[in-house]
Amino acid sequence: MKGIILSGGTATRLFPLTATTSKQLLPIYDRQMIFYPLNMLIKAGVKNILMIVAPEHSGQYLNLLGSIFKKFGINIYFEVQKVPRGLADAFILGESFIGKSDVTMLLGDNIFEDDISKAIRNFKSGGMIFAKEVSDPERFGIVEFDAKGKALSIEEKPVKPKSNFCVTGAYIYDNRVIEIAKNMQPSERGEIEITDINNAFLQMDELAVKKIEGEWLDAGTFDSLLEAGNIVKNKELYKNFDPIIDAAIAEFNAELKILAKKRLS
Ligand code: TTP
Repeated sequence: MKGIILSGGTATRLFPLTATTSKQLLPIYDRQMIFYPLNMLIKAGVKNILMIVAPEHSGQYLNLLGSIFKKFGINIYFEVQKVPRGLADAFILGESFIGKSDVTMLLGDNIFEDDISKAIRNFKSGGMIFAKEVSDPERFGIVEFDAKGKALSIEEKPVKPKSNFCVTGAYIYDNRVIEIAKNMQPSERGEIEITDINNAFLQMDELAVKKIEGEWLDAGTFDSLLEAGNIVKNKELYKNFDPIIDAAIAEFNAELKILAKKRLS
């Protein structure tokens, strides 16, 4: 299993915060947002992770993540996405990185309380996505289920939603996802849509949709960014990190302190 974190985009809803840095490098309480998707992959035992970033932020990502995981046997690779062409672009940009493996793709701005690392670890084939019950289904990709809980359809931002379960920013696919993505046409908004990939696996009757529990936050607006920080602090979610993440951050902080001292002397 390989991992991709999609961490580009333009983040217009967070202007002016994102005029100076990437959305996914903004703080959620005591660490950058990007450590949340990284945590999920590292917990799942994924050793090779591709970060897809916007050109203007590549240096910042390299400074933060370029070397801190190496000694733990985790390799972080970087790919620049010149234009935000859509979520499914991850599998085209990541083609040579993915090689012949299966792949988990996580959105860099999604925070899950539920632990999906087991599903990543135990993945066999086809596609697997994660649905969360929401009160405002018109805003999301919505999954229709039959009486047995099997997914029947996925509709993007439906006027008449067929359920309250929306597709969240975690996707696991077998290697066929590369060819499916490469053969897709951009949608009316000019993006290669992840919903089309999910529907392709659904049509082959090979898409599993798992319902998740707990908080799910997409920290893309001022309110959800603030809420995410508050929830992480109040529910002590910052204590749920894999020891590798905590150790890597502690070592990075120690290095920063040494550098700061050198500058003063
Ligand atoms: P969005 O939140 O849909 O888009 P955005 O981050 O550009 O924000 P805004 O709507 O405020 O302009 O993107 C979801 C996630 O996917 C986010 O982590 C950014 C990432 N993304 C890419 O990396 N490349 C892309 O082409 C797109 C569309 C999104």
